Amino acid sequence: MKATLAFDIYGTLIDTHGLLFMLHGMIGDRAQAFSQAWRDKQLEYSFRRGLMGRYADFGVCTRQALDFTSSAFAVELGEGQKEQLLQSYRKLPAFADVREGLDALRKQGFGLYAFSNGSAAAVATLLEAAGIDGLFRDIISVEDCTSFKPDPRVYGYFLQRTGSAADDAWLISSNPFDVIGAKSAGMHCAWLQRSAAVPFDPWEYQPDITVHSLSDLASAIAEYRTGGN
Ligand code: 2OP
Repeated sequence: MKATLAFDIYGTLIDTHGLLFMLHGMIGDRAQAFSQAWRDKQLEYSFRRGLMGRYADFGVCTRQALDFTSSAFAVELGEGQKEQLLQSYRKLPAFADVREGLDALRKQGFGLYAFSNGSAAAVATLLEAAGIDGLFRDIISVEDCTSFKPDPRVYGYFLQRTGSAADDAWLISSNPFDVIGAKSAGMHCAWLQRSAAVPFDPWEYQPDITVHSLSDLASAIAEYRTGGN
């Protein structure tokens, strides 16, 4: 039987910097730095809420991170502009390799799941807007655990919900913290390196395989398996 594949969503399948053009129109040349700071703060808020046991919907992390970043950059974004950004964030674009890559994996018999910090409703909206909603068996959201990645409970919950053994389940993520979290919880992990400029954390947990496009994933998993792993 082919492996179960848990696809991270934000940053892996869906481009969290997909609003650069809109941001550029609002704040000019600092759009790129702003977009990165917004994403970093969104994740920081999810980590902090997870540690504190103060869960809130990931969309709250996104909104509060936008407020913080606007203040930190001292840009005067009006409420209407923030609302426009947040509404567009609900329909961010997928990366170019996603639709074809997922479709090929599904046809090869892999079991595809969306596995995200985002609520199931938010992820469903994203996948539908990107035209890839029909490719997954299910959406598994951390909201059911009222915690966030990389809490080990959320990876255990994924395995339980999909009825998978850790040794037959792969997390595919561009986010090193997510790869390390899943690896620590016993899953196999593929790091989808979306940017050559982003190194992997020098921890004792490293990805089993590293790919640069979803189209390379199936062959990389097969090679890993034939290597006796
Ligand atoms: C996700 O869970 C980590 O934000 C990333 O979709």
